[in-house]
Amino acid sequence: MANGSVRTRRDVWTLQQPWDPVLEWYARGVAAMRARPIADPLSWRYQAAIHGYDPSVDPYRQPGEALPAAGERQRYWNQCQHSSWFFLPWHRVYLGIWERILSDAIVQLGGPADWALPYWNYSDAANPDAMKLPPAFMAATLPDSTPNALSLEPRFRMGAEPDGSVALDESDVSLDCLRDGTFTLDPSSGAPAFGGPITLFNHGGGPTGSLERTPHGNVHVAVGGFDDNGAGLMSQFETAGLDPVFWMHHANIDRLWQVWLGRAGSTGNPSSLDWLNATGARFRFRDHTGAERTFAPADVLDSGAEPFHYAYDDVADPLPVVVAGPGLESVRTREAAMAELVGATRGPIALSSPTTRIGIDLAQPSGPVLESLGQRQLRVYLNLSNITAKRAASRVRVYLGGGESGQRDEDLAGTLPMFGVETASRPDSDHGGSGLSYVLDITDIVGRLKAQGRWNPDRLDLSFVARDRLGADVELKVGSVSVHYE
Ligand code: C2O
Repeated sequence: MANGSVRTRRDVWTLQQPWDPVLEWYARGVAAMRARPIADPLSWRYQAAIHGYDPSVDPYRQPGEALPAAGERQRYWNQCQHSSWFFLPWHRVYLGIWERILSDAIVQLGGPADWALPYWNYSDAANPDAMKLPPAFMAATLPDSTPNALSLEPRFRMGAEPDGSVALDESDVSLDCLRDGTFTLDPSSGAPAFGGPITLFNHGGGPTGSLERTPHGNVHVAVGGFDDNGAGLMSQFETAGLDPVFWMHHANIDRLWQVWLGRAGSTGNPSSLDWLNATGARFRFRDHTGAERTFAPADVLDSGAEPFHYAYDDVADPLPVVVAGPGLESVRTREAAMAELVGATRGPIALSSPTTRIGIDLAQPSGPVLESLGQRQLRVYLNLSNITAKRAASRVRVYLGGGESGQRDEDLAGTLPMFGVETASRPDSDHGGSGLSYVLDITDIVGRLKAQGRWNPDRLDLSFVARDRLGADVELKVGSVSVHYE
């Protein structure tokens, strides 16, 4: 690339369909990287293994093939940062280095020097095709009839329609996360936050930021799916990077970080040096020359500058500007250290049938929450903690209300993705197998139930509904559910 020029990452659906040059070069570049052996750091499979690698789920494993040496794998593979305040910056570096490697491959093939990764804006309410995969990801061949590397056989377990429709719905691509004004998640507060909790190196497991939950995790498991024989590529850390869809999904997640930073009311990135300098957890990569480089968030906050030089064609705020009123704030502001636990389950809940109903007894708010009630709206948070499973699992919907009449769309608190649940449930994981934890802000729904006379202040009924068929022997469990008032 010419000095000083910036790559522009564009909305994939605004490109010429089906074969804009950006997509055709994407396919040709992927094919060139896929032709390289896994031991080559610039190969497609090595790049995917940086995110995660497990030979037992590698669909491209050849008997007797040489992997990189054990020390190399130890140093550079299985690095993805999840359930962490490093989730966003780590994936930014991962995409930036990969985009340069792919771009170099495209240049070697005679393509343009300014190729940029397109992003998949599945949440674009103005585009009726937004939730579909673009035709270039479904076509068997390129315009010249050679095989299309963007279309992969092991991608799907639940399949897709020939028009690119996958199992996504509006709750999977909700941008409610943008309303969380705070970046850093404080799990002890019971309240949600956009970015993730303070961690050192964290490959998976633990409390998760709102963006990482939805749309990020939902899109992963909706595209990949799973069945009794295993998971589609996007559904697991160890295979996700093998799918070209992964990269345009993460370009959108990276873009949403920019969008969030630009919203009035967002409190911005963490200012802590532990985050900026990634103290004790610097991101280690091999760059497009094969040389080792380490990064911290402070090195990549300005995407248009060194080292990656890219910008998005659109970072406008996608949420409607609403008239402020109960339950309609465009940004949720937090009153630090005010949240109060008012109810919790006593033991783990097995989600072994398609629908599981529970009830939680609620206490009345007391202390500071009660005292402040006259001046501010009561916020209500649902914490779903220590979600574990024996095998890859997909999505679970959580509805307020327990009766047969439950499961109204308007009572849907959220759709929980099980992306990474298997990794997070292993006893040797970073959190000792304690699983995933999610926080849902249910203030708006509770407000509506109150207005409709359907709210019981003494008891909260919940329905868990498997969004997809539960595979055999998954043993999906929620360790505890608690309700917090703030
Ligand atoms: Cu590290 Cu979307 O994953």
